[in-house]
Amino acid sequence: MQSLFSPLPAVSGDAIFALVEAFQNDPTPNKVSLSIGTYFDENGNIPVMHAVRQARDMLAQAGTPHPYLPIPGSAAYRNAARSLVFGTNGPEPDRIVTVQSVGGTGALKVGADLLRRTCPEAAIWVSDPTWENHGQIFRQAGFAVREYPYYDAATATVRFAQMLAALQALPKGSIVVLHASCHNPTGVDLSSEQWEALTGLFERQGLIPFFDLAYQGFGQGLEADAAPIRMMARAGLECLVASSFSKNFSLYGERCGALHIVCHDAAAADRALGQVKSLIRGNYSTPPTFGAALIACVLNDTELRRLWAEELEQMRKRLAGLRTRLSATLAQLTGEADAWQYIEQQQGLFSYLRLNPLQVESLRQEHAVYLLKSGRLCVAGLTDGNIDYVGRAIAAAARR
Ligand code: LMR
Repeated sequence: MQSLFSPLPAVSGDAIFALVEAFQNDPTPNKVSLSIGTYFDENGNIPVMHAVRQARDMLAQAGTPHPYLPIPGSAAYRNAARSLVFGTNGPEPDRIVTVQSVGGTGALKVGADLLRRTCPEAAIWVSDPTWENHGQIFRQAGFAVREYPYYDAATATVRFAQMLAALQALPKGSIVVLHASCHNPTGVDLSSEQWEALTGLFERQGLIPFFDLAYQGFGQGLEADAAPIRMMARAGLECLVASSFSKNFSLYGERCGALHIVCHDAAAADRALGQVKSLIRGNYSTPPTFGAALIACVLNDTELRRLWAEELEQMRKRLAGLRTRLSATLAQLTGEADAWQYIEQQQGLFSYLRLNPLQVESLRQEHAVYLLKSGRLCVAGLTDGNIDYVGRAIAAAARR
């Protein structure tokens, strides 16, 4: 019988979550998941950070109720989220709209919907490659999505000259999605000098930066990872930022993020806030309470915040150590001392291995090692217990 849904095309599903599911169904005992961007500790578990644990106990003891939050979210959370992104010398607070969002993805979508209202003719430009979900989010908001050159597979660096040339040719008012740090999927970021050049170009060309900041604290540190955003805001550019606490608070399922909109003045910020509130109310009404309460509790308490920042710094350093170890293991196994150094130069949760899709598939079929078809490997899934095994599997795949 003809169904209401028969005319719809079949959708194959999300590449990242499909791999997580395939991993869960794989009976191989020594399987290794290096696909989704989740930080695991040295025992292969998602950590509950000590600062979060303490905040949870404090909230439980206080018996805090679960009211509706205001449409833009909890004020304590929004203020803390804003100062984490913009620091102490950011634009005047009345020029920045910050609303709580359902994860970083929710911030991207609300931001995209807002932009669609104010510049419906613009195209959205994303890096080639970019996070698997960017295209879908912006297309579902009604935008045409195009790519600017970013990663050079031959050198494992940014094709900066080509990137500049492409952005230079864009019409005024084009929206450009930028990864502030820890580029997903490549782990290859721009230098400060390159960000400066980009800032000048955005000013001259009248481009609109939309930053994705999902891994703050995992690259060079909490402050440095937000520096490109602060640079563009200081230059007077109006910009949007989608920030996420999923990874740096290890609170994935709580879906805590924030959308920040830097405006030229308080009147524009008021207007933007009104629009965003209507988008939220017309979508999910108000954001959830619990994760935001935990984060606000940590960030607004000097001691808990210090503890959290320290734990995050340890996570960051552990990732750097895993990179060094994987690169050295592969150099030793393949006898190619320089060939794997790029793994150490990348930063954040991901490494972009120079493997083709067939080699990646062989990792899964023959060794039950799961990474994305693109070669993206989540470094945070490596442990003392699996790193040598993964190294041997990659070395074998690379020989194919
Ligand atoms: C990823 O890229 O793996 C993470 O950002 C998780 C996700 O939602 O895709």
